[in-house]
Amino acid sequence: MDIEKIRSQIPVLDHTAYMNTGWSGPSPRQVAQAMKDRIDLELEQGSTTAGVYETGKEIQAQAREAAARVFNASVDEVLVTRNTTEGINIVLSGLDWNQGDEIVTCNLEHGSVVVPSQYLGQRYGVVVKVVDLDPHDPRETILAKIEAAFTPKTRMVFISHVEYSTGLRMPAEEIRQLTKNRGILFMLDGAQSGGHIALDMASSGFDFYSIPGQKWLLGYEGTGALFIRKDHLERIHPAHTGGRGVVSPMDVHNFQPVPDTMEKFLGGSSSVPLQAAFLEAVKFVEESGIKNIEERNLDLADSAKAKLSEIPGVSVISPSERRDSSGLVSFSVEGQTPVSVVSKLWEDHHIVVRQVNYPAAVRVSLHFFNTEQEVELLAGGVRELV
Ligand SMILES: Cc1ncc(COP(=O)(O)O)c(C=O)c1O
Repeated sequence: MDIEKIRSQIPVLDHTAYMNTGWSGPSPRQVAQAMKDRIDLELEQGSTTAGVYETGKEIQAQAREAAARVFNASVDEVLVTRNTTEGINIVLSGLDWNQGDEIVTCNLEHGSVVVPSQYLGQRYGVVVKVVDLDPHDPRETILAKIEAAFTPKTRMVFISHVEYSTGLRMPAEEIRQLTKNRGILFMLDGAQSGGHIALDMASSGFDFYSIPGQKWLLGYEGTGALFIRKDHLERIHPAHTGGRGVVSPMDVHNFQPVPDTMEKFLGGSSSVPLQAAFLEAVKFVEESGIKNIEERNLDLADSAKAKLSEIPGVSVISPSERRDSSGLVSFSVEGQTPVSVVSKLWEDHHIVVRQVNYPAAVRVSLHFFNTEQEVELLAGGVRELV
C-alpha cells in the first residue's frame, strides 16, 4: 500500500488530520471527478439523449456489480441504495410482522437500528429487546447475553457489525450460528463496516446487510448498498414502489409486479452522478484491498489505544482485544466533555474527530490513509488538554 500516493489523492489531508471517516469519509479526487464528469455530460447533452442515457444505465449496472464485490455476494442479491438507513427500512418495512414478534438488539446501537425497530413496535406491537452490553465484554459473554434474550417469539437479531460509538466488532459469524437453527433472521447494519472490514455474504450466511457509500468507502452521501439473501426475496414486500416495479412500465394498468428480484424495490429513478462516484470509490478502496485496509486500520487503532491509555485521566472505551476491534477508537477525558475535547483538537491541531453517545465519548476514526504521525499528533493533542 503506497500511503503517500493514496494521501496525495485525498485533498482534505493536505491541511487536516482527518479522523472522522465513521461519520463521512474524505473523498479522493477521482471520486469527485467521476461525478463531475457525469454532471457535465448530462449538463451539455441531456440525461435522456440517446447514448447518454445508455451510458448512465451502464454506470448503474457497474455500481451494482461493485457493491456485489464489496459484499462478496451475487449481483442479483444486491441493490444500490441511497444510504444505510434506506436499506434497513427496505427490509424492516417489507417483512410481515405479527403482534408480539421480538427483535433482539443492544444498548450500543445507532439510531438507524433503534428507531426503525421501535417503529415496528408502535405499528405492529413488535417487542424490541435491548441486550445490555459493555464494550469490554468478552466475546463469549456477548454471545451468552444475546442467546439469553431469545424466546420462541424471537423473529430477528438486528445489530451493527461494528458498533458506531465504541468500534466494538460484534461476533457476527458466531451470532449467525446462534440464529441459524432457530429460524431467527439476522440483519446487520454495516454503516461502520462496509469498506472497512472484508465482508463475505457468500460464506457468512447473513440474511440482510446494509452499507453506506459515504463512510469507509470514501464516496458521497446519497449512496449505499443493500444485500438480501436470495431465499428471502420473496418474503420482503416492496414498501416503496412505482412505475419501475412492474413488468411493463408502459402498461401499468395491467398490474403485473416484477418477479421477486431486487428490482422490485426500485420504484423510481436514482442519481447517475452519485452512482458514478460510488463506483469510483469502490475501485479506489479495492486498489488497496479491503482485507489489507482492515489490518492497517487495526494497527493504527492498536497504536492509538496504547498511546491514549498512557495519558493520565484518559480512559479508552473501545475494546482492547484485536479481534473485537476496528479502526474506531473512543475515549473520554476526565473533567472534560467530549464536545470540548472535539473542539480543542480542531482548534489547536486541525484534527477532525467527533463526539458520540451510548456511551458518551470522543470517537476517532482511523482509516488506511491515516498515519502513525497523525496518531502521535492526536495523542500529543490530548496530552496537552489534560
Ligand atoms: C451504525 C450506523 N448506522 C447507520 C448510520 C446512518 O448511515 P446512513 O446515513 O448511511 O443511513 C450510521 C452513521 O451515521 C451509523 O454509524
